[in-house]
Amino acid sequence: MKMKDTMDKDITILAIESSCDETAASVVVNGRDVLSNVISSQIDIHTLYGGVVPEIASRKHTERINQVVKKGLSEAGKTLQDMDAIAVTYGPGLVGPLLIGVSEAKALSFATGIPLIGVHHIEGHISANYIANKDLEPPFACLVVSGGHTHLVLVKDYGEYEILGRTQDDAAGEAFDKVAREIGLGYPGGPKIDKVSKEGNPAAIDFPRGKVAGSRYDFSFSGMKSSVLNYLNTCKMKNIEISVPDVAASFQQAVVDVLVSHAMWAVEEFHLTKFALAGGVASNTALRAAMEKACAERGVEFFCPPPILCTDNAAMIGSAAYYEYIKGVRSGLDLNAKPGLRLGER
Ligand code: KG4
Ligand code: ZN
Repeated sequence: MKMKDTMDKDITILAIESSCDETAASVVVNGRDVLSNVISSQIDIHTLYGGVVPEIASRKHTERINQVVKKGLSEAGKTLQDMDAIAVTYGPGLVGPLLIGVSEAKALSFATGIPLIGVHHIEGHISANYIANKDLEPPFACLVVSGGHTHLVLVKDYGEYEILGRTQDDAAGEAFDKVAREIGLGYPGGPKIDKVSKEGNPAAIDFPRGKVAGSRYDFSFSGMKSSVLNYLNTCKMKNIEISVPDVAASFQQAVVDVLVSHAMWAVEEFHLTKFALAGGVASNTALRAAMEKACAERGVEFFCPPPILCTDNAAMIGSAAYYEYIKGVRSGLDLNAKPGLRLGER
C-alpha cells in the first residue's frame, strides 16, 4: 500500500549537512519546496592537499556551522521556532565532519524542544529528485553516483529501498578524482574531467569497461583507473606525448558506458518506467546526456536534479527528512554519527 505523502498542515524542516567538505543548511517545506539552500564549500582549502583532509574538514565545519544555520533560516525568512523538525545527516560520511552536524542539530533540538530526525546521506541524494521534479513519486530506480558511493537502487516507496548493485572498490567520483590527479588536472577531478573531455575524443583510447564476476549489477572502477595509469606509464616509457583531453574523454566514456549499461539492464529486467540519477557525478554532462538518450530510446521517463542539488547540499536532507517525519520517525538525543551507515539501516 502506498503511504499517504501529505499532512494536513505544511511541515517546515531545517536540515543540516556536514558529512564531507560542504557545510550546508536549508529550510524545506513539505519535502519539495526549498526556501533556502546555503552551502559553504571547503573545496579551495582541500585543493591544496589534492583531496579532502578529514581533520581540516572537521575544523572548518566547526568554524562555519553556526553562521550557515543562521543564514539558512534568515534566507528562508524563518526562525527556529517556525520549524517542525530539525534534520541532520548522521551517516555515511567522515566521522569528524558528521559529528559537527549531529552535535549542532542535537543542541538546537535540545534547546528548543523541536523534534530531531537523523537522515541517511544517500537517501538525501535520492530525494533531491523529489525537489527537482514535484510530481515524481516512487516506484522508480535511481543510480546514486558520488565521491563516496555508487549504488543502483530500486526506490519501492518513500524510504523503502532495494539495492541492486554497488561498487566493489572505488566509487565513480573517486575514480574521476584519482584519474584527474594522474593527468594533472587536480582536485576535485570530476568537474575538470567533464570540462576538458569536451575537447577530447572519447574513442581515442579503448579503456576497459569494468565488470564484477558473478554479479550483473555491481560495479568495479579500480581496474579502469589502473588501466589509465598503465596507459600513462607506457606512454612515458615510450616517450609518447599524451593528449589530456583524449585520456579524460576516453576514461569518462568508459565510466559512462558502464553506468548506463547497468542502469538499462535494471530498466529492462524490472520493466521500469522511471529512472533517476543522483549524487555529485550525476552533474557530469556526458552521463546525463547518455542516460537521457538511453531512457528515451526505451520510453522511460528520465529524472536528474540540477547540479546544485546533485553535489552535497542540505535541501536534499530536508526532503528525505519530510518523508520520515510523516511516518512518525524521530531520533533521540542519543543520535550518533555513523560513518559506515548502510542504506535502509537505522
Ligand atoms: O555527492 P558529492 O558532492 O559528495 C559525496 O557524497 O561524495 O560528490 C562529489 C563527487 C566528487 O568525486 C566529484 O569529483 C564528483 O562528485 N563530481 C563530478 C562532477 N561534479 C562533481 N564527477 C564527474 N563530473 C562532474 N561534472
Ligand atoms: Zn554526497
